[in-house]
Amino acid sequence: MADRVFLITGASSGIGEATARRAAEAGDRLVLAARRLERLEELAAELGGPERAIAVRCDVTEWDDQQAMAAAALDAYGRIDVAFANAGFGAPRGFEASDPEHWRTMVLTNVLGAALTIRATLPALRESVGHLLLTGSVAGRRALPGSLYSATKWAVTAMGEAARQELEGTGIRVTLIEPGSVRTPFFDRPPAGALEPDDIAEAVLYAVGQPPHVDVNEILVRPTAQSN
Ligand SMILES: NC(=O)c1ccc[n+]([C@@H]2O[C@H](COP(=O)([O-])OP(=O)(O)OC[C@H]3O[C@@H](n4cnc5c(N)ncnc54)[C@H](OP(=O)(O)O)[C@@H]3O)[C@@H](O)[C@H]2O)c1
Repeated sequence: MADRVFLITGASSGIGEATARRAAEAGDRLVLAARRLERLEELAAELGGPERAIAVRCDVTEWDDQQAMAAAALDAYGRIDVAFANAGFGAPRGFEASDPEHWRTMVLTNVLGAALTIRATLPALRESVGHLLLTGSVAGRRALPGSLYSATKWAVTAMGEAARQELEGTGIRVTLIEPGSVRTPFFDRPPAGALEPDDIAEAVLYAVGQPPHVDVNEILVRPTAQSN
Protein backbone atom coordinates (compact mmCIF):
# COMPACT_ATOMS: atom_id res chain seq x y z
CA MET A 1 0.00 0.00 0.00
CA ALA A 2 1.16 3.57 -0.72
CA ASP A 3 2.23 5.63 2.28
CA ARG A 4 -0.73 6.79 4.38
CA VAL A 5 -2.07 10.29 3.74
CA PHE A 6 -2.50 12.10 7.04
CA LEU A 7 -4.44 15.39 7.11
CA ILE A 8 -4.10 17.66 10.15
CA THR A 9 -5.94 20.90 10.96
CA GLY A 10 -4.12 23.24 13.31
CA ALA A 11 -0.81 21.96 11.93
CA SER A 12 0.96 25.32 12.16
CA SER A 13 1.72 25.01 15.88
CA GLY A 14 1.67 22.93 19.05
CA ILE A 15 0.02 19.51 19.01
CA GLY A 16 -0.77 19.57 15.28
CA GLU A 17 2.78 20.49 14.32
CA ALA A 18 4.28 17.85 16.64
CA THR A 19 1.92 15.24 15.19
CA ALA A 20 2.96 16.20 11.67
CA ARG A 21 6.63 15.64 12.57
CA ARG A 22 5.91 12.27 14.17
CA ALA A 23 3.73 11.16 11.26
CA ALA A 24 6.42 12.19 8.78
CA GLU A 25 8.93 10.09 10.74
CA ALA A 26 6.48 7.18 10.50
CA GLY A 27 6.48 7.52 6.70
CA ASP A 28 3.13 9.28 6.24
CA ARG A 29 2.42 11.88 3.59
CA LEU A 30 1.04 15.04 5.16
CA VAL A 31 -1.67 17.57 4.40
CA LEU A 32 -1.01 20.48 6.73
CA ALA A 33 -3.88 22.92 7.27
CA ALA A 34 -4.30 26.12 9.29
CA ARG A 35 -4.68 29.85 8.63
CA ARG A 36 -0.96 30.80 8.78
CA LEU A 37 0.16 29.52 5.40
CA GLU A 38 3.77 30.67 5.71
CA ARG A 39 4.37 28.53 8.80
CA LEU A 40 2.76 25.56 7.09
CA GLU A 41 4.89 26.05 3.98
CA GLU A 42 8.07 26.08 6.08
CA LEU A 43 6.99 22.90 7.84
CA ALA A 44 5.99 21.19 4.57
CA ALA A 45 9.38 22.04 3.07
CA GLU A 46 11.14 20.70 6.18
CA LEU A 47 9.14 17.47 6.00
CA GLY A 48 10.19 16.74 2.43
CA GLY A 49 8.38 19.10 0.04
CA PRO A 50 5.37 18.43 -2.17
CA GLU A 51 6.01 14.69 -2.61
CA ARG A 52 5.70 14.22 1.16
CA ALA A 53 3.82 17.23 2.58
CA ILE A 54 1.61 20.03 1.30
CA ALA A 55 0.46 23.21 3.01
CA VAL A 56 -3.16 24.33 2.69
CA ARG A 57 -4.55 27.58 4.03
CA CYS A 58 -7.82 26.70 5.75
CA ASP A 59 -9.92 28.62 8.23
CA VAL A 60 -11.86 25.70 9.71
CA THR A 61 -14.91 27.88 10.32
CA GLU A 62 -15.30 28.33 6.53
CA TRP A 63 -16.99 25.50 4.63
CA ASP A 64 -15.43 26.61 1.33
CA ASP A 65 -11.94 26.39 2.87
CA GLN A 66 -12.68 22.96 4.29
CA GLN A 67 -13.88 21.64 0.93
CA ALA A 68 -10.83 23.14 -0.78
CA MET A 69 -8.58 21.47 1.84
CA ALA A 70 -10.03 18.03 1.15
CA ALA A 71 -9.84 18.65 -2.60
CA ALA A 72 -6.19 19.72 -2.31
CA ALA A 73 -5.40 16.49 -0.46
CA LEU A 74 -7.07 14.40 -3.16
CA ASP A 75 -5.40 16.40 -5.96
CA ALA A 76 -1.97 15.92 -4.42
CA TYR A 77 -2.16 12.35 -3.17
CA GLY A 78 -5.46 10.83 -4.36
CA ARG A 79 -6.64 9.74 -0.92
CA ILE A 80 -7.03 10.64 2.76
CA ASP A 81 -6.32 7.86 5.25
CA VAL A 82 -6.25 9.86 8.48
CA ALA A 83 -8.08 13.11 9.25
CA PHE A 84 -7.13 14.83 12.49
CA ALA A 85 -9.55 17.65 13.42
CA ASN A 86 -7.29 19.42 15.87
CA ALA A 87 -7.61 23.19 15.29
CA GLY A 88 -8.90 25.07 18.31
CA PHE A 89 -8.18 27.55 21.07
CA GLY A 90 -9.36 28.65 24.49
CA ALA A 91 -10.69 31.67 26.34
CA PRO A 92 -10.28 33.10 29.83
CA ARG A 93 -12.53 31.41 32.40
CA GLY A 94 -15.54 33.23 33.81
CA PHE A 95 -18.88 33.93 32.17
CA GLU A 96 -18.23 37.66 32.57
CA ALA A 97 -14.56 37.48 31.68
CA SER A 98 -14.10 37.05 27.97
CA ASP A 99 -14.97 39.20 25.00
CA PRO A 100 -18.22 37.92 23.36
CA GLU A 101 -16.62 38.12 19.91
CA HIS A 102 -13.75 35.93 21.12
CA TRP A 103 -16.39 33.48 22.39
CA ARG A 104 -18.11 33.47 19.01
CA THR A 105 -14.91 32.64 17.15
CA MET A 106 -13.91 30.01 19.71
CA VAL A 107 -17.28 28.23 19.52
CA LEU A 108 -17.26 28.35 15.73
CA THR A 109 -13.68 27.07 15.54
CA ASN A 110 -13.81 24.36 18.20
CA VAL A 111 -17.30 23.03 17.46
CA LEU A 112 -18.43 23.96 13.93
CA GLY A 113 -14.84 23.73 12.66
CA ALA A 114 -14.46 20.14 13.88
CA ALA A 115 -17.85 19.19 12.40
CA LEU A 116 -16.95 20.73 9.05
CA THR A 117 -13.65 18.84 8.99
CA ILE A 118 -15.55 15.60 9.55
CA ARG A 119 -17.99 16.51 6.81
CA ALA A 120 -15.29 17.55 4.33
CA THR A 121 -13.09 14.49 4.82
CA LEU A 122 -15.67 11.75 5.36
CA PRO A 123 -16.22 10.84 1.69
CA ALA A 124 -12.47 10.23 1.31
CA LEU A 125 -12.30 8.36 4.63
CA ARG A 126 -15.13 6.10 3.49
CA GLU A 127 -13.17 5.41 0.32
CA SER A 128 -9.94 4.61 2.18
CA VAL A 129 -11.65 2.99 5.20
CA GLY A 130 -9.65 5.51 7.14
CA HIS A 131 -9.33 6.95 10.61
CA LEU A 132 -10.88 10.11 12.08
CA LEU A 133 -9.35 11.76 15.14
CA LEU A 134 -10.62 14.78 17.07
CA THR A 135 -8.75 16.80 19.67
CA GLY A 136 -11.02 17.06 22.66
CA SER A 137 -9.63 17.79 26.10
CA VAL A 138 -9.71 16.80 29.75
CA ALA A 139 -12.00 19.86 29.79
CA GLY A 140 -14.38 17.90 27.57
CA ARG A 141 -14.71 15.22 30.24
CA ARG A 142 -15.40 17.43 33.27
CA ALA A 143 -16.82 20.93 33.48
CA LEU A 144 -14.40 23.61 34.57
CA PRO A 145 -15.65 26.65 36.51
CA GLY A 146 -16.83 29.44 34.22
CA SER A 147 -15.40 27.75 31.14
CA LEU A 148 -17.22 28.07 27.83
CA TYR A 149 -14.08 26.47 26.34
CA SER A 150 -14.88 23.39 28.42
CA ALA A 151 -18.39 23.38 26.93
CA THR A 152 -16.93 23.43 23.40
CA LYS A 153 -14.81 20.40 24.24
CA TRP A 154 -17.82 18.56 25.69
CA ALA A 155 -19.33 19.13 22.26
CA VAL A 156 -16.24 17.61 20.65
CA THR A 157 -16.50 14.59 22.97
CA ALA A 158 -20.12 14.16 21.88
CA MET A 159 -19.17 14.61 18.22
CA GLY A 160 -16.56 11.87 18.43
CA GLU A 161 -19.03 9.47 20.00
CA ALA A 162 -21.74 10.46 17.50
CA ALA A 163 -19.39 9.92 14.57
CA ARG A 164 -18.22 6.57 15.93
CA GLN A 165 -21.81 5.35 16.21
CA GLU A 166 -22.76 6.66 12.76
CA LEU A 167 -19.75 4.98 11.17
CA GLU A 168 -20.28 1.58 12.76
CA GLY A 169 -20.00 -1.06 10.06
CA THR A 170 -17.91 1.11 7.69
CA GLY A 171 -14.54 0.08 9.11
CA ILE A 172 -13.67 3.75 9.77
CA ARG A 173 -12.14 4.24 13.19
CA VAL A 174 -12.79 7.26 15.41
CA THR A 175 -10.48 8.42 18.19
CA LEU A 176 -10.86 11.26 20.66
CA ILE A 177 -7.53 12.66 21.84
CA GLU A 178 -8.06 14.31 25.23
CA PRO A 179 -5.01 16.19 26.49
CA GLY A 180 -4.49 17.73 29.89
CA SER A 181 -2.19 20.76 30.00
CA VAL A 182 0.31 20.85 27.14
CA ARG A 183 3.06 23.43 26.70
CA THR A 184 1.89 25.19 23.52
CA PRO A 185 0.90 28.74 22.51
CA PHE A 186 -2.62 27.73 23.67
CA PHE A 187 -1.43 29.17 27.00
CA ASP A 188 0.10 32.60 27.57
CA ARG A 189 1.97 30.92 30.41
CA PRO A 190 1.80 27.10 30.41
CA PRO A 191 1.26 25.55 33.86
CA ALA A 192 4.32 24.07 35.56
CA GLY A 193 4.79 20.44 34.66
CA ALA A 194 2.72 20.63 31.47
CA LEU A 195 3.10 17.90 28.85
CA GLU A 196 5.08 18.55 25.68
CA PRO A 197 3.24 18.55 22.32
CA ASP A 198 5.25 15.49 21.35
CA ASP A 199 3.69 13.55 24.25
CA ILE A 200 0.30 13.99 22.58
CA ALA A 201 1.69 13.32 19.10
CA GLU A 202 2.90 9.97 20.39
CA ALA A 203 -0.61 9.14 21.61
CA VAL A 204 -2.02 10.03 18.18
CA LEU A 205 0.51 7.80 16.43
CA TYR A 206 -0.32 4.97 18.84
CA ALA A 207 -4.01 5.19 17.92
CA VAL A 208 -3.42 5.27 14.17
CA GLY A 209 -0.81 2.50 14.40
CA GLN A 210 -3.25 -0.15 15.63
CA PRO A 211 -4.41 -2.97 13.35
CA PRO A 212 -7.74 -2.47 11.53
CA HIS A 213 -9.80 -4.44 14.07
CA VAL A 214 -8.68 -2.20 16.97
CA ASP A 215 -10.44 1.15 17.42
CA VAL A 216 -8.88 3.19 20.21
CA ASN A 217 -11.95 5.27 21.11
CA GLU A 218 -10.40 7.74 23.54
CA ILE A 219 -6.99 8.64 24.89
CA LEU A 220 -6.97 10.92 27.91
CA VAL A 221 -3.46 12.06 28.84
CA ARG A 222 -2.73 14.33 31.79
CA PRO A 223 0.61 15.45 33.12
CA THR A 224 1.44 13.32 36.13
CA ALA A 225 -0.49 14.66 39.14
CA GLN A 226 -2.65 17.14 37.25
CA SER A 227 -5.83 16.87 39.34
CA ASN A 228 -8.42 18.60 37.14
N1 LIG B 1 -2.42 23.01 25.02
C1 LIG B 1 -3.26 22.39 25.83
O1 LIG B 1 -3.05 22.36 27.06
C2 LIG B 1 -4.48 21.70 25.29
C3 LIG B 1 -5.18 20.83 26.16
C4 LIG B 1 -6.30 20.17 25.67
C5 LIG B 1 -6.71 20.37 24.38
N2 LIG B 1 -6.02 21.23 23.56
C6 LIG B 1 -6.51 21.39 22.20
O2 LIG B 1 -5.48 21.04 21.32
C7 LIG B 1 -5.73 21.63 20.04
C8 LIG B 1 -4.43 22.23 19.52
O3 LIG B 1 -4.04 23.27 20.41
P1 LIG B 1 -2.52 23.52 20.82
O4 LIG B 1 -2.43 23.34 22.29
O5 LIG B 1 -1.62 22.75 19.95
O6 LIG B 1 -2.44 25.09 20.58
P2 LIG B 1 -1.72 25.96 19.45
O7 LIG B 1 -0.26 25.64 19.42
O8 LIG B 1 -2.15 27.36 19.71
O9 LIG B 1 -2.36 25.42 18.09
C9 LIG B 1 -3.66 25.75 17.70
C10 LIG B 1 -3.75 25.47 16.21
O10 LIG B 1 -5.11 25.70 15.78
C11 LIG B 1 -5.05 26.48 14.60
N3 LIG B 1 -6.27 27.25 14.44
C12 LIG B 1 -6.86 28.09 15.32
N4 LIG B 1 -7.97 28.63 14.78
C13 LIG B 1 -8.08 28.12 13.53
C14 LIG B 1 -9.00 28.28 12.46
N5 LIG B 1 -10.07 29.10 12.55
N6 LIG B 1 -8.80 27.60 11.32
C15 LIG B 1 -7.73 26.77 11.18
N7 LIG B 1 -6.83 26.57 12.15
C16 LIG B 1 -7.01 27.24 13.31
C17 LIG B 1 -3.82 27.35 14.75
O11 LIG B 1 -3.31 27.73 13.48
P3 LIG B 1 -3.47 29.15 12.78
O12 LIG B 1 -3.44 30.20 13.86
O13 LIG B 1 -2.30 29.20 11.85
O14 LIG B 1 -4.79 29.06 12.06
C18 LIG B 1 -2.85 26.36 15.39
O15 LIG B 1 -2.20 25.60 14.40
C19 LIG B 1 -6.86 22.63 20.25
O16 LIG B 1 -8.06 22.06 19.80
C20 LIG B 1 -6.89 22.81 21.77
O17 LIG B 1 -8.15 23.18 22.23
C21 LIG B 1 -4.92 21.89 23.99
